[in-house]
Amino acid sequence: MKLVGVIGDPISHSLSPRMHRYWLGQTKVVGDYVPLPVKTENLSEVLCALPKMGFYGVNITIPHKISVLMIADEVTERASAIGAANTLTFRPDGSIHADNTDGIGFIENLRNNAPKWKPTETSALILGAGGASRAVISALLDAGTPEITLANRTKEKAEALQAIFGDKVRVQDWENFDVSRHGLIVNTTSLGMTGQPQLEISLEKLQPDTIVNDLVYNPIETPLLASAKQAGCFTIDGLGMLIHQGIPGFERWFGVRPEVTDELRKLLLS
Ligand code: ATR
Repeated sequence: MKLVGVIGDPISHSLSPRMHRYWLGQTKVVGDYVPLPVKTENLSEVLCALPKMGFYGVNITIPHKISVLMIADEVTERASAIGAANTLTFRPDGSIHADNTDGIGFIENLRNNAPKWKPTETSALILGAGGASRAVISALLDAGTPEITLANRTKEKAEALQAIFGDKVRVQDWENFDVSRHGLIVNTTSLGMTGQPQLEISLEKLQPDTIVNDLVYNPIETPLLASAKQAGCFTIDGLGMLIHQGIPGFERWFGVRPEVTDELRKLLLS
């Protein structure tokens, strides 16, 4: 039996076990995907032991996505650019390969759900400058997006990302961004999530041809997406990125590319 898991602290809320177990059933691979609650002080020891226990790899989530880079033996270019890893693969000799599939998950979700999106012709407005924002910026630049406007409550954090990603990224004040100038708007903040404050931005000038993607998937239709839909925009919810970021790991560990189905979406939403 092929064993894989997801490491985080806490981990009980993670949808990944449900998703990967669905794919295991679909692909008829004999394996399991288990949630592993691990404290920071034990992370190194656990990652050293898992390959010896038959694990093929693990997903990594909060709060370990950054610290695993120091533990891994090989880090992909995109994980280095993002500064975090979410997918580890254990080699036969026990060495650890670290990748970050958040950016590719973001892009694949857009390509699948907004086929008219042309990254090389569409400027983007990104709200937020945390870990998710780094993955989105890195992936958009790789896809050829010519200009990214970044707005974050703490402006210094946005400026720090500009320093990392270069001139194509421009920083704008949090209170003062113009939603009318961008073909793609992405909310990477936690605002709008159940139990969190609302994202209070003026959407009056929103253009109907804008694609609006909220990475928040709880609720699945956030107030941002509801308003954008009303303005005639093309909206994309956050569940798709979660699903698509899981595909490269599943394929690497189990040797089969899993499918995104409506049944899977319903299962994750239930
Ligand atoms: P993730 O890894 O999911 O991106 P994170 O790194 O904690 O999570 O980033 C959270 C983002 O949500 C940040 O951009 C944060 O803004 P700050 O950098 O100013 O903290 C943003 N955020 C969280 N709560 C917010 C609030 N009440 N108002 C505005 N932005 C908020």
